[in-house]
Amino acid sequence: MSYARVLGTGSFLPERVVTNADLASTVDTSDEWIVSRTGIRERRIAGPGETTCDLAERAARQALDAAGCLASEIDLVIVATTTPDRVFPGTACLLQERLGIHGPAAFDVQAVCTGFVYALAIAEKFIRTGSAKRALVVGAETMSRIVDWNDRSTCVLFGDGAGAVVVGASDEQGILSSHLHADGAYKDLLTVSTETPERGAASGRITMRGNEVFRMAVTTLDALVGETLAVNDLKKADIRWLVPHQANIRIIAATAKRLGMAMDQVIVTVDRHGNTSAASIPLAFDSGVRDGRIQRGDVVLMEAFGGGLTWGSVLLRY
Ligand code: COA
Repeated sequence: MSYARVLGTGSFLPERVVTNADLASTVDTSDEWIVSRTGIRERRIAGPGETTCDLAERAARQALDAAGCLASEIDLVIVATTTPDRVFPGTACLLQERLGIHGPAAFDVQAVCTGFVYALAIAEKFIRTGSAKRALVVGAETMSRIVDWNDRSTCVLFGDGAGAVVVGASDEQGILSSHLHADGAYKDLLTVSTETPERGAASGRITMRGNEVFRMAVTTLDALVGETLAVNDLKKADIRWLVPHQANIRIIAATAKRLGMAMDQVIVTVDRHGNTSAASIPLAFDSGVRDGRIQRGDVVLMEAFGGGLTWGSVLLRY
């Protein structure tokens, strides 16, 4: 069986920057509160006509270029998204059409902020079993469309963007292991419900019990990191880079501490992007690759948690 290796990365952010000061002019908040509680300073917001597929396409084209791969060579398209453009077809089908790919499997993965980790793990299994040779895996979100802009406890957290990787069959080691988890018992901690919105919550908009999500995130990620190291018989020092889901700098710092990693071994984008859900890990990964920090051969740990609750990790040699 061949390995599944990342051949190239890409990302895209909408042009419009919304700062904490901008938000403070519409809801009762402040730059000081947002920075001290979350580490977020600004986020990007999609333009009125800009869709999730638009963002996905820009990131995907960049990843294909970086991989030196033609769209026609892709035989699997997976888009992780919580904000698809249509109920159906899936955003992966919309993206496939934009890229001129006809025939191979294309589907969306809905695991909220853990979506990209789920999608990458699925692509790896297709490749390892010989069902695909080159997979395009994208995380793309327009979270701004499901945020309640009157709810200061959530609207300051989220942003829009997309990141992508091309994963290909290779004799060289690539993805070393993946670990996926979920527990629907926590479905109401972080949700968008159109059925029975919580009291006072807008239908079809994000509601969150922030404190409980925070505690669950730290606990589950702590166990996840231990599980990933144990399965691979690795020591903490073997991991060169942590590419975490970018929800909150305090959660990221807690995981880094658990790994005994200095913050300069962690790719952090939450300050500039906010929480872009399924797009946050591929955006951060691409930023570390493009600025030269993440080098070929480096061992990288990606980890995420999100609505579901879902949580998961991918350990890879870049
Ligand atoms: N600006 C100013 N005050 C705010 C605010 C904002 N944007 N949002 C909430 N507050 C207020 C609350 O109303 C509360 O006021 P009160 O004490 O008068 O009731 C106070 O700040 C403290 O709220 P609390 O929710 O306890 O704050 P916190 O320290 O837990 O921080 C989060 C809130 C959301 C930053 C934090 O809980 C968190 O990061 N949770 C995890 C969220 C997450 O990662 N979600 C995505 C998962 S993928």
